Amino acid sequence: MTDIVVVYHSGYGHTQRMAQAVAQGAGALTLAIDGEGQLPAQGWEQLAAARAIVFGSPTYMGGPSWQFKRFADASSRPWFVQAWRDKLFAGFTNSASVNGNKQTTLDYLFQLAMQHGGIWVGSGMLPSNASAARRDDLNWIGAFSGAMAQSPADASAADMHPGDLETARQFGERIAQTAGRLKS
Ligand SMILES: Cc1cc2nc3c(=O)[nH]c(=O)nc-3n(C[C@H](O)[C@H](O)[C@H](O)COP(=O)(O)O)c2cc1C
Repeated sequence: MTDIVVVYHSGYGHTQRMAQAVAQGAGALTLAIDGEGQLPAQGWEQLAAARAIVFGSPTYMGGPSWQFKRFADASSRPWFVQAWRDKLFAGFTNSASVNGNKQTTLDYLFQLAMQHGGIWVGSGMLPSNASAARRDDLNWIGAFSGAMAQSPADASAADMHPGDLETARQFGERIAQTAGRLKS
């Protein structure tokens, strides 16, 4: 069984595709937070057993979705006993605008990990921002503190930018490699 868990919320399927790409790269299990902000059965146990936890949320109104925040608030139970201390953490987000205040969401995911006493893994990926850059290049958005994707407001989840999904997949690989290095 994998010891990396991607826990995410997605209202309309875009962030879910990103979660699946991260999970593919990391060889991770995915846990979807539902429309009521709840985890599936055994979700909390799977998080407790994880070596690495990857948070994912769409950016809604300049921050994580309320469903993700409900999950985050519920994580105060393991927080009280610092049950997630020294686990590896990472995060990703997706929104309609290239900027769209996605950084605020990633910053929140980081703060949540820090409250839990975790160790944060960034993207470790250089941005593609030269004149020759193309939209489907790796890390075209240029995120260092996690992975970001941009899904045009009228695009279905099936029409997400392949470069953003590949960025997410390689981010997952980095998380797995880092987790492997920390294995005792
Ligand atoms: C309630 C709501 C608020 C949103 N706020 C933002 C925002 O602040 N910035 C942005 O760029 N896009 C925003 N969007 C667009 C979503 O981030 C975008 O459609 C995203 O792909 C949705 O991901 P999902 O399919 O995983 O829910 C918002 C969408 C909704 C429904």
